[in-house]
Amino acid sequence: MNKPNLYMAPLQGITNCDYRNVYSRMFAGYDFAVAPFIRSCVVTSNTCTALRDLFPERNDTKIGLIPQILSNTPSDFISMAKALYDLGYKTVNLNLGCPIKHIRSKRRGAGLLPYPSEILGMLHKIIPAIPNQLSIKVRLGSENSREFIELLSFLNDLPLKDIIVHPRIGSQMYEGEVDLDAFAEVLSLSKHPVIYNGDIDSPETFKRLASRFPDITGWMIGRSGITNPFLPEQIKNLRSDTAQEKLKRFISFHDEILTAYQKTLSGPGHLMDKMKELWRYWAKSFKGGNKLFKAISKTRHLNNYLIIIVNKFFNSNPDYIN
Ligand SMILES: Cc1cc2nc3c(=O)[nH]c(=O)nc-3n(C[C@H](O)[C@H](O)[C@H](O)COP(=O)(O)O)c2cc1C
Repeated sequence: MNKPNLYMAPLQGITNCDYRNVYSRMFAGYDFAVAPFIRSCVVTSNTCTALRDLFPERNDTKIGLIPQILSNTPSDFISMAKALYDLGYKTVNLNLGCPIKHIRSKRRGAGLLPYPSEILGMLHKIIPAIPNQLSIKVRLGSENSREFIELLSFLNDLPLKDIIVHPRIGSQMYEGEVDLDAFAEVLSLSKHPVIYNGDIDSPETFKRLASRFPDITGWMIGRSGITNPFLPEQIKNLRSDTAQEKLKRFISFHDEILTAYQKTLSGPGHLMDKMKELWRYWAKSFKGGNKLFKAISKTRHLNNYLIIIVNKFFNSNPDYIN
């Protein structure tokens, strides 16, 4: 098999430009990243701040970046997609997968999937009006796993760049198994390139999925790519670091992320919140990580954080287990 196309999944609050920049300086493996969603609005000089994370001068990475828009309003989507095109983005992604209840209840994200005529009406307005190519990211449905499959034959007639599929339904959030049989059905019915997303948590899981779906266009990795930042390199067999080398690289990564956030976040509270959010994932890659995470969760001051993490934990030569 040729090297697979790997996509960094959008994780709101985590895979922002600071994360992407530091990550791509220190690790290899991802070919593309879909940015966390921005909510559509008519772009004016006042609303332009919504696009800040995507400003080219803030994105210093070799990973191809694809902005994502959460919308159910064609005119807003069109305005935003055009503004993104002017910033250099030739592809935009429409979020039809967000499972969060209050978003779904407003017929956004996966909440649009029970309304195929609304989706098609929107796409018929958007596609001819935007200069970008359109990619979509979907779940199988909001409450029912047939919703997207029923829409698919209509999508085949539209010029989409690709479809990223997370084979769960919205009401599941991230619980339960991914539905690989339903994904196989999507793959067999779609005329568009399909990208698989869901629970790729190790090179072994990837190999299993790749042998079942050998002709797929790409693979998107979310939570486990945060937990184990080496995962894309491991999947592509790019390096074979020892545990000691991984620990050293991980510590440098941690330090650079912390430095980047110190520059861009206002106030120690925000900084601590960001680092805690990351450790929610990172902790799983270390023996003794749970205990560490509990200690970090209670920390409110940077000095304390540095004492707990840098001095105690990193100096104790912890086992990196992924
Ligand atoms: C904290 C968090 C934030 C997320 N934010 C987004 C988002 O902005 N846009 C989106 O399409 N999906 C978002 N997702 C879903 C992920 O992109 C991905 O589809 C999901 O985590 C499944 O992939 P995984 O099993 O590899 O993590 C988010 C998921 C999490 C856990």
